[in-house]
Amino acid sequence: MKIIIINGPNLNLLGKREPSIYGNQTFEEYYQELKNKYSEVELQYFQSNIEGEIIDIIQKTGFDYDGIILNAAAYTHTSVGIGDVIKAIQTPVVEVHISNVYKREEVRHTSFIAPNAKGVIAGFGMKSYELALVSFLKN
Ligand code: DQA
Repeated sequence: MKIIIINGPNLNLLGKREPSIYGNQTFEEYYQELKNKYSEVELQYFQSNIEGEIIDIIQKTGFDYDGIILNAAAYTHTSVGIGDVIKAIQTPVVEVHISNVYKREEVRHTSFIAPNAKGVIAGFGMKSYELALVSFLKN
């Protein structure tokens, strides 16, 4: 099973970015834990602060991967382009957020991804990524 985690802008700063919201762990540390725990999964990771690069990687993986775990971060709430590419591909996408965006400012309540995602997981800290991963596994 081939799954890719795609992180959007500012998520390269996890560990030092607003730790009261996003925690103290870097994504690289967490990703290593996930890879060890789910060694049967071919797990890949991609991060970019650039909208077009996120669209490119979704296009590249969206026809032969089994799942995309996407935290588009701020682009979730703004990007028609990312919303469109999710409609264009075949691989199912699970939208993920570390924080519970529905408890936060109203601008974070809108998602261009959710209408075409398989599901949405938000508010479980870094564990949101693991819950998304498990959703792709066949027991
Ligand atoms: C986020 C929530 C977004 O609103 C925010 O812009 C982020 C991170 C989350 O994981 O909680 O950068 O996607």
